[in-house]
Amino acid sequence: MEKPSSAASSAETRSAQQESITVIDNRTGKRYELPINNGCIRAMDLRKIKSNEADFGLMSYDPAFLNTASCTSRVTFIDGGRGILRYRGYPIEELAEKSSYLETAYLLIHGELPHREQLTDWTYHITHHTFIHESIKKFLDGFHYDAHPMSMLISSVAALSSFYPESKDIFNEDSRRKQTYRLLGKLPTIAAFAYRHSLGLPFVYPDNELSYTGNFLNMLFKTTELKYRPNPTLEHALDVLFILHADHEQNCSANSMRGVGSSHADPYCATAAAAAALYGPLHGGANEAVLRMLMEIGSIGNVPEYIKRVKSGEGRLMGFGHRVYKNYDPRAKIIKRVAYEVFDVMGRNPLLEIALEVERIALEDDYFVSRKLYPNVDFYSGLIYQSMGLPVTMFPVLFAIGRMSGWIAQWEEMLLDPEQKIARPRQVYLGYGQREYQPLDKRG
Ligand code: CMC
Repeated sequence: MEKPSSAASSAETRSAQQESITVIDNRTGKRYELPINNGCIRAMDLRKIKSNEADFGLMSYDPAFLNTASCTSRVTFIDGGRGILRYRGYPIEELAEKSSYLETAYLLIHGELPHREQLTDWTYHITHHTFIHESIKKFLDGFHYDAHPMSMLISSVAALSSFYPESKDIFNEDSRRKQTYRLLGKLPTIAAFAYRHSLGLPFVYPDNELSYTGNFLNMLFKTTELKYRPNPTLEHALDVLFILHADHEQNCSANSMRGVGSSHADPYCATAAAAAALYGPLHGGANEAVLRMLMEIGSIGNVPEYIKRVKSGEGRLMGFGHRVYKNYDPRAKIIKRVAYEVFDVMGRNPLLEIALEVERIALEDDYFVSRKLYPNVDFYSGLIYQSMGLPVTMFPVLFAIGRMSGWIAQWEEMLLDPEQKIARPRQVYLGYGQREYQPLDKRG
């Protein structure tokens, strides 16, 4: 068990004072006292509020979970109003500056920063699980040349389940650890192979002498050289991007990982579901959508007209807005800095000027200001990936590689939480009552 964070401890102290709320049911005049713990009432406590004995009891209605905590967690803390993001208590700014992706992944999954030997061991195991079964290569080859790499990634990760049937033993800690090494090790390999397939280039096998991101660059870009030497600026930029994307508490894909994992599916199938959730343009697909948007805008002069269209309801400004951040996304600030480091090496991305103008105009416009819409993590990440030479379709794939560690941390936390059960929301049924079946020849 991890130690609770100071935020959790103070919440526990509050709950020790037995806070509660009194609810009066105006239908019956009855009063109910509902305990408050960590700033929440338990939805199940509402069920004792009944209009009569036969009543099922009150439920809460919360489409898209706008105000429902589905779990307790000790992994990631976000204060959206103040633009704060911390993994296991450590500010994202400090991790981006001082940590490495693999160290951060260890932190997220184990709850503590590793000692030197732990980090060496962790890095060794992940590095030695980067190879994929030759059969996976065969079915990657079966994809059409223009298949979206995200759909190749999702299907290949799901297919890993068939290669490692022992992964179903989800309550065995050793097995979970093994699947963790495999998922973190193999995701970049599958991603790089999907990219090479789209270009019709031969696959490049992992190079275990390189760093996590150095090897990824090797598998993406190696051509005829005997030994690929990654550019240290690009290697570092990618590492920072993976750190920034590593976890984001109960986002759509983490919720999918937990939801599918709650049925005790193996981690490969749960990861495929999480990656599928990430693929959507409102989530991890947004970085791809941002680039397409900037290309559509085409020039600085067209920005005001584009913003006008967004304000009139013609689409959204991609890379803007966030369910949780109602202030500048702290990740976006760091990414903007990294972008300039990459541009120094690769040359300035011509779309940058358009992006800066979009940001400038939007941040002065009442439509965006009043709705608290600021650039999010995806606004600048695509520009970096594009400058590195990657096509837009690879952007969500890169997001998935970084997010893998967070998915594992969330999945494991869910499995080990005695309060969790199979995720199964309720509904408010508004359809027909019972109807008589009409034979085919009697239907209008
Ligand atoms: N452009 C224009 N208007 C927007 C935008 C946007 N990007 N985002 C929200 N709004 C408006 C929305 O129309 C609504 O206006 P009104 O109150 O007049 O109806 C208001 O702001 C609130 O929007 P919402 O849809 O209720 O907000 P949400 O919390 O459900 O959505 C979001 C959050 C991220 C899905 C949304 O802001 C969005 O679609 N952004 C663009 C896609 C994007 O960049 N996604 C990446 C998110 S960060 C990376 C990640 O976690 O995956």
